Amino acid sequence: MNVTELFNRRMLRKVLTLADMEAVSEKRMSPVAHAYLSGAAGDEITLRANREHWARIRLNPDILLDVAEIDLTTKILDQSLDIPIVLAPIAINRFWHKSGEMGVVEGANQGKVTLVTSTYATESVENVCKAATQPVWFQLYTRPEREFNQNLIQRAEAAGCKAIVVTVDTPVVGIRTREERAYFRLPPNLNLPNDGAAKHCAVDLSADGWYRSNYSFFQPYRCWEYTPTPVRWGI
Ligand SMILES: Cc1cc2nc3c(=O)[nH]c(=O)nc-3n(C[C@H](O)[C@H](O)[C@H](O)COP(=O)(O)O)c2cc1C
Repeated sequence: MNVTELFNRRMLRKVLTLADMEAVSEKRMSPVAHAYLSGAAGDEITLRANREHWARIRLNPDILLDVAEIDLTTKILDQSLDIPIVLAPIAINRFWHKSGEMGVVEGANQGKVTLVTSTYATESVENVCKAATQPVWFQLYTRPEREFNQNLIQRAEAAGCKAIVVTVDTPVVGIRTREERAYFRLPPNLNLPNDGAAKHCAVDLSADGWYRSNYSFFQPYRCWEYTPTPVRWGI
């Protein structure tokens, strides 16, 4: 084990909660990667509200039950899941760790959870599916070009994805102040293998360095009209 690995291992021993992990990650990531991962829209009012709502949830435990064996299996979309946890789609995973999506797959395999891989993953849907022992769903950002949507759905299906998750709340990119301040741009060494055009677009337009230019592949359009129907659940 080299010095860096030893340091990482010692550091991770102190990480017991998500808040611990957040604090460590800020120290380990570049400012721009951290801004992208932890930033939210505008003044981040909704982000704070979401956290407050989560903090208000109280667990109401049952008592005097047989807990020798706990069965958390459930069914979603006709699929049997070991536990009712699905990892949300997060783009550009190699931004903050070299293992990228493959690291996430490893975590999902160990934790026996389903994962949703993003249209803007830095690893192809084919490679993610090959490495996964748990179900993989594919997240689709639709585009006005119907063929683009159809092609990605077919690729995801052929790769073995068990469902398509259509994102309908990003017809345009919001105001992302934190990312603009951090001068967001897609690092040139990163690829988006599910969508070569996005990479091309991001690189071409990164000259002015502004987040919204980088993200110009999100075009305002009538989102639902261009979403392939029927969206096939549980393929
Ligand atoms: C860094 C980052 C990247 C994300 N990338 C995607 C994405 O590629 N596709 C998508 O549909 N949602 C994406 N999301 C949204 C998340 O999947 C999730 O819906 C959102 O963060 C709300 O969940 P939360 O409150 O647990 O953060 C991203 C969120 C973050 C923070």
